[in-house]
Amino acid sequence: MDEKRESRSRSSSPEFSPLAFGEDLAPLPEYKAAGTTALDFSGLLDEPLKLHEDLKSGCGGMLWPAGMVLAKHMLRYHQEKLQTARVLELGAGGGIVGLTIAKGCKIIDHPLYITDMVDMESLMQHNIALNQVDDRVKARILNWGEPLSQEILDYKPDTILAADCVYFEPAFPLLLQTLQDLLALNPSATVFFCFKKRRRADMQFLKSARKAFKVTEIEDEDRPIFTREGLFLYAFTKK
Ligand SMILES: C[S@@+](CC[C@H](N)C(=O)[O-])C[C@H]1O[C@@H](n2cnc3c(N)ncnc32)[C@H](O)[C@@H]1O
Repeated sequence: MDEKRESRSRSSSPEFSPLAFGEDLAPLPEYKAAGTTALDFSGLLDEPLKLHEDLKSGCGGMLWPAGMVLAKHMLRYHQEKLQTARVLELGAGGGIVGLTIAKGCKIIDHPLYITDMVDMESLMQHNIALNQVDDRVKARILNWGEPLSQEILDYKPDTILAADCVYFEPAFPLLLQTLQDLLALNPSATVFFCFKKRRRADMQFLKSARKAFKVTEIEDEDRPIFTREGLFLYAFTKK
């Protein structure tokens, strides 16, 4: 790893504590007890997705609002195209978006990757098993800002998902770097990016993204509802 990246990635792991909100960290949703939720996204899934939530490994251990919006969007508008896509989810937490796709789209050509930091690995594995999609979904560690693994380089994802990954300011440049690396690896890839604005600084991320990528607001019939809740949904592509 080059020196610049190594030093930046050291600040990449926000500690989750529902009581301790640092300056850099947007206020997190209320602490939630561990449990399993079933989701069918208003009937879009024939068989509900089961998602175990457990905050003991970090804030990705619960469902976040942008994950719900992005999962539903992908199911509603991209179901057919996703069957043959090479999908990679960043900051997947329990795997909400990737697992929804695995449940709702008949993935035929490629496995689908859900990725996060090492602390989330067991929850991702647990949710893969819970939904019996072990044959189609792989959980991998992908730390933003670090060089992509050979496995991901070979996979060359064309559909990148990121939901609620804008909440910890020191991680913004790391996430941006990973998105840049992925779009350099596959210049025709699309990043589906959904986040909830919690602090003014969150819009700084978008400002940097606009400099680095072509940023397009995506059509969605739920837009009026999620916009009212401070949620944004974009596609990033290479300039
Ligand atoms: C707010 S959670 C969102 C989880 C899920 N995408 C959702 O919408 O429910 C943000 C996720 O980003 C992951 N994350 C934060 N910093 C990261 C980093 N530097 N590298 C990789 N993942 C990171 C966290 O572990 C967490 O799972």
